[in-house]
Amino acid sequence: MGGRFRDVTDEIRRRVNILEVVSPHVTLRRAGRSYKGLCPFHSEKTPSFTVDPERGFFYCFGCHAGGDVFDFAMRIGSLPFKDALAELADRAGVRLPQTPAEEHRAGERERLLRAVADAAAWFRSQLEGRDGATARQYLASRGVDHGTQEAFRLGYAPPGWDRLGPALRGRGFEASVLEQAGLIVPRPGGDGYYDALRDRVVFPIHDLQGRPVAFGGRALGDGTPKYLNTRETSLFTKGKTLYALDAARQAIRETGQAVVVEGYMDALSCHQFGVRNAVASLGTALTLDQVLLLKRFASSAVLVYDADAAGVDAAERGIEIFDQAELPVYVAVLPGGADPDAFLREHGAAAFRQRLSGALPIFEYRLAMAERRHDRRTVEGKVGIVDEMESLITKVSNPVRQAEYVRVLAERLGVREDAVRGQLRRVGGRGRPGRSTGIEVRPVPEATARARAEELLLHLLVADVEVRRAFRDAVEPDAFRDPGHRALAEALLAAEAQGADANRLRERLQDETAVSLLSRFLIAEPPVRGDPRRVAEGCVQQIRLCDLDERIERLLEALTEAVQRQDDTRRDALAAELMRARREKDRVRELKVGV
Ligand code: UTP
Ligand code: MN
Repeated sequence: MGGRFRDVTDEIRRRVNILEVVSPHVTLRRAGRSYKGLCPFHSEKTPSFTVDPERGFFYCFGCHAGGDVFDFAMRIGSLPFKDALAELADRAGVRLPQTPAEEHRAGERERLLRAVADAAAWFRSQLEGRDGATARQYLASRGVDHGTQEAFRLGYAPPGWDRLGPALRGRGFEASVLEQAGLIVPRPGGDGYYDALRDRVVFPIHDLQGRPVAFGGRALGDGTPKYLNTRETSLFTKGKTLYALDAARQAIRETGQAVVVEGYMDALSCHQFGVRNAVASLGTALTLDQVLLLKRFASSAVLVYDADAAGVDAAERGIEIFDQAELPVYVAVLPGGADPDAFLREHGAAAFRQRLSGALPIFEYRLAMAERRHDRRTVEGKVGIVDEMESLITKVSNPVRQAEYVRVLAERLGVREDAVRGQLRRVGGRGRPGRSTGIEVRPVPEATARARAEELLLHLLVADVEVRRAFRDAVEPDAFRDPGHRALAEALLAAEAQGADANRLRERLQDETAVSLLSRFLIAEPPVRGDPRRVAEGCVQQIRLCDLDERIERLLEALTEAVQRQDDTRRDALAAELMRARREKDRVRELKVGV
């Protein structure tokens, strides 16, 4: 969090109650000083998600997500900090400091949005007017009812090169603005402009606020290209936009799931047939940005594709992106090369929903595909299947998921897991530096006495002003070995000058684990009976004892080695040091402390 925003973040914190920001996403109940609810970041049945409105922090005892109001907005919306800041500033009615260049860009953006909005209204009037008869017929022939046309603000770009341009110029828009909005295109030779879309049904593409930012146009008949989009502009990036998301977001939130189809018409039909959580990727392969956008509203996605080949491709590409975005994804396949639009019209909504509920997780889907091509009862078949699954398995970055895939694959093929791993290692790993294909899951180390003491001490330092005052000079950040502990301790001791206010502390932390720890220490009472200062002393003692134990251990090893090598000088030096360490340990143990 840059200093430039310090005043604004403080002002936002003063004006926005974290409860108000959290409660649209979580039903909260009061529990003492804080509020509890079901965590929106992992699935659970008993509430471990806690909000402390007084301190302005949240923490989930289940998944350890934690932080302040900005962290919550970032996490729930999958937003970068600056977008979360903008959103909360908006809510708080706080103006963000802008450089003159930013002010200028904002003004320009407004102009472009107005031009596109005007164009949308004009296309719409064309569809409903005298010139729109053939387009209306076309839509009727495709079964798009009037309600859907209305809801999606469909329009019509009439034939001719100079219809939209002059109409909007007549309303005072400059040609350069219309051009920047992608509505008109300069004629070659620099002699004026022509309309970007002609004689096409127009599908406005909306942003999340429901404002049109671009258009897709479909030829009425067999004209080519079948679809034409207005170009990418400062308002519209294809790979960051999903068609119909503005219409679908509510249903996606409610059902938790997004249905992803390829085409405009597919999305339209889904909505018309009551599948209101459908969005379209606009024919391109899904991008990570699009998946992250979905993740702001969905907890899973179903990809619905027509042809098998395209489905395999999409699944192949999809797995990496969905895995990166940590959004569970399923694949539903429609029979006979039908797309969702055609399928819905032929078989109806119930049959479509059945396909959706029969959607397979991407791994099972690919396995089913591979099993169609190879006989899993033969040796060569098994080899072929593992080969086909290789790229998918090695693309998975989550080690638990990857291990699970290997286990399922081995089980399905009736071979040992190491055999599968062996083959994966041989074919995998090429040219993927920095990305391990090793499939072992690292065991989570058990909390040692030292780690527990570290944690308790830090908890007390964060939560208890008295302890912090008493120990500020006695504790070094180096006493904390866990990287999260150390990061928090460093920030804490550095922020002490500013009174170690929790918000200032948050701002000093980069590391997500440290933020989580801070939130927990603020929200949970330290597990302490009696005088916190005595307990803190006990922790310091415990840490010292553990460190001394380790040192003694190391000295003993070195001593044994020196004896074996008959290095008498070194042996004597080590023995003396060992004695000192042991005496020191006795001394530390003797200290009277309250743990
Ligand atoms: P399809 O060719 O599958 O068309 O392209 P469709 O969606 O079934 O369209 P209808 O039903 O024939 O009207 C899928 C998507 O790919 C993009 C469009 O977004 C389209 O909806 N596309 C397709 C283009 O951008 N340009 C094209 O020429 C074709
Ligand atoms: Mn179609």
